[in-house]
This record gives sequence, C-alpha cells and structure tokens, in this order.
Amino acid sequence: MQQTPQSNTALVGIVITGASSGIGQALAEHYARPGILLALTGRDATRLQAVAETCRQRGATVDAETVPVTNRAAMASFIERIAARSRLDLVIANAGVSGGFKDWGGFDAHVRAITDVNIGGVINTVNPAVPIMVKQRSGQIAVVASLAGFLSMPGAGPYSSSKHFARSYAEELRGMLAPEGVRVSAICPGFVTSRMTARNKFPMPFLMDEQRAARIIANGLARNQGRIAFPWPMLAMIRLLGLLPYPMLDWILSRAPKK
Ligand SMILES: NC(=O)c1ccc[n+]([C@@H]2O[C@H](COP(=O)([O-])OP(=O)(O)OC[C@H]3O[C@@H](n4cnc5c(N)ncnc54)[C@H](OP(=O)(O)O)[C@@H]3O)[C@@H](O)[C@H]2O)c1
Repeated sequence: MQQTPQSNTALVGIVITGASSGIGQALAEHYARPGILLALTGRDATRLQAVAETCRQRGATVDAETVPVTNRAAMASFIERIAARSRLDLVIANAGVSGGFKDWGGFDAHVRAITDVNIGGVINTVNPAVPIMVKQRSGQIAVVASLAGFLSMPGAGPYSSSKHFARSYAEELRGMLAPEGVRVSAICPGFVTSRMTARNKFPMPFLMDEQRAARIIANGLARNQGRIAFPWPMLAMIRLLGLLPYPMLDWILSRAPKK
C-alpha cells in the first residue's frame, strides 16, 4: 500500500474490530494514548462512538466506523484507508458472536450467522492487512479465538468450531509470515465478562473482567507470544479433558451446558 502525502508514519496504527463492547472496548481503551491512531469497528454506532470518545479523551486519534466484518469489500477499504494514514502496526480481529438456536428449522441460519462473523469476519479483517504488513516488513496480527477452540463442544457448536478455525488460522499465519517480519498471535480467552457472557445462564469458572483480559492480551502481544491462552487453570482443565479417551470425552462434553 502506497503511503499518501497525508500519511503520518509517526502514528502507531491499531485496528480493533468489535470495539463497541467487551474485550474489544477494553483493548481500545488500554491502547488509547497520544501517538496512537485507533481504527475501531463495531455494529452499534452509539456504543462505538462512546468508546471512541473515551479513547480521544485519553489522547488517541480515533477513526470509529460501523463496518460489518462480514462485508469483505468494506473491511478491505477500511484497513487500506487506515494504512494510508499511518503505519499499520497492529490489527486485532476481535469481533465475534455466539448464541444458541430455538428449533432445528433455524439451525442452518444459526450456523451461518456464527461462521460468517467468526470465520468470514476474521478472514475479511486479517487478509487485507497481510500484504500491507509484508510490504512494510513489520506489523502484528492478533486473532481472538477462545479456549473453546481446543475442544469440540456440542453445547457451543458451531461457536467452538469457528474458534478452532480462528486459532488454527492465526497459528498457521504466524509461521507463514515470520520470515516476512510480521508477527501473528492467537488469543484464546476463557470466560470474560462482556455482553456475550452476560447472557450465559450456567456457571462460568474463573470468570475475569474484560480490563484484566485486555492487559493479559496486550502483555502477550508485547512479548510476541504465539498463543495467548488464559486463565491457566481453565486452560489446564481443557488440556486434561483433551487427554481423555474420546468415548469418555464425548460422554462428558455431551452433558456440558448449552449456549
Ligand atoms: N467473553 C468471553 O468469555 C470470551 C471468551 C473467549 C473468546 N471471546 C471472544 O472475544 C471476542 C469479543 O467478544 P466479547 O466477549 O467482548 O463479546 P461482546 O461484548 O459481545 O463483543 C463482541 C463485539 O463484536 C462486534 N461484532 C459482532 N458482530 C459483528 C459484525 N458482524 N461486524 C462488526 N462487529 C461485530 C460487536 O459489535 P456490536 O456490539 O456493536 O454489535 C461487539 O463489539 C469474540 O470473538 C468472542 O468470541 C470471548
């Protein structure tokens, strides 16, 4: 991407999708300071503009637009516009959706609604950034997956399968892009307070607030950790479950709470 005459390479450019609430909002507020160009997306204009205003008050330059991550052309154009204004230093593909469905007649629509955002949205966010960062020979991409991306969970399908994709895509890109000077990380949180988890009616072990999650993510990214999976007791539990013989795991997971 050519830098335009108006581009300001002194600004550190950070793109965060799904910044209108939860983890994305906490990340935007964490990174907001003078010298940072924050490019934020979400769907709810009112909440997104409120986050943008908080970030401006912290000294950041903010471009906040309600770009749906499912719109491939709009996402590509958003990222190219940001890259024309500053270096593209960090792109966080965070936007995501979860939820259940009421009846099997709505199953196909449910699967597509989740995968369009959690898989298609990740691709639409990450891919336009790749050639720009390769050309810069610098930059960092973070894909927000989940600890649900380590186990196939009938109670959270197809959310869980979409997060397998997100984690795996990030980890593959990490190896592909390292020789080009571009760093990539998969973010795999456990339960974090947000609008998404506020709907859950089951116990959420080791639930943490979104500000703490944002600090853990930002620290991991600063250290270029390939996989930022937390909290560790939940990760350990998932890892131990994964060691069980499949029939036993199948029996346990099919009895786990449903979204
Ligand atoms: N909370 C957890 O326990 C947890 C655990 C593991 C992973 N995660 C992942 O963390 C990420 C953030 O989730 P969260 O917990 O912070 O939930 P959240 O508060 O519901 O935030 C989701 C964000 O994604 C945005 N979004 C959804 N669909 C979009 C679309 N089509 N286009 C653009 N933006 C869209 C939402 O925008 P609007 O609000 O404006 O609609 C919102 O800003 C998700 O990928 C989620 O799967 C969360």
